[in-house]
Amino acid sequence: MNQVALITGGGGGIGGAVARRLAVGGMSVIVADYDHGAAEKVCGEIVRGGGKAEALSVDVTQAREVKALVTDVARRLGRIDVLANIAGGSFYTKRIEEFTWAEWRQVIDVNLKGTFLMCREVAPLMQRQKSGRILNTASNYGVTGSALRVPYSAAKAGIIAFTRSLALELAPDGILVNTVAPGPTDTPRVMERETTEARRQRWQPLIPLGRTGQPEDIAELFYFLTTPESAAITGQTFHCNGGLV
Ligand SMILES: NC(=O)c1ccc[n+]([C@@H]2O[C@H](COP(=O)([O-])OP(=O)(O)OC[C@H]3O[C@@H](n4cnc5c(N)ncnc54)[C@H](O)[C@@H]3O)[C@@H](O)[C@H]2O)c1
Repeated sequence: MNQVALITGGGGGIGGAVARRLAVGGMSVIVADYDHGAAEKVCGEIVRGGGKAEALSVDVTQAREVKALVTDVARRLGRIDVLANIAGGSFYTKRIEEFTWAEWRQVIDVNLKGTFLMCREVAPLMQRQKSGRILNTASNYGVTGSALRVPYSAAKAGIIAFTRSLALELAPDGILVNTVAPGPTDTPRVMERETTEARRQRWQPLIPLGRTGQPEDIAELFYFLTTPESAAITGQTFHCNGGLV
């Protein structure tokens, strides 16, 4: 039977790489994103490569949209084996006194509330299946903190604690919950803001391995956490940052 993976933020740099990797691993992937064009582009690449993929629209901060998405996937595909919550972002770099309440809410909502809403809808289905993998996305900043990114760091730290708690709650049903924490990763959106050379100069002295991550580096970690080889791992946070943390 084909395994089904639902990937939020699947139209983005890391989400797209994860979707491609899981599809190569033989899963049917649902690429869910509020940027439908980006999700369709990722699905097109997967399908042209012989994989199975479908693009669906969702805003993960909207409970009704999340419920409709999960209900639709469950009705048509019958199961969800992997939920990868990758939709997120830091959106702003500014001092705390410059943050508005709306900006704080936006950052917390996309990263933390979105993860909660998706897990709340998918967990009962996985409980009925008596199996499932939930993969959340944090950041090195969720552990080290980051000046000028107070809400983002708080949201990502929250995701790490959320993961530990949900893993304990769902373990009796055979559902594994883990977090992947990427370090600086060269996604198209990041590379729009900075030249390759400027980025190299900024990060090379700080990263022991001497290079920033590629979306494919992060995707391999996500993939591993969906395999039978990782069946004894739950409640953990895995960093991929070249030794930065
Ligand atoms: N790129 C990095 O250096 C880096 C480092 C650490 C952590 N991360 C985390 O990795 C994840 C992916 O980041 P990325 O670099 O690929 O970013 P990205 O901007 O390329 O991808 C994010 C995707 O999420 C989607 N999205 C945003 N808000 C959404 C919403 N409300 N509902 C549905 N979809 C939504 C966007 O449309 C986009 O396709 C994020 O959680 C980010 O915080 C990235």
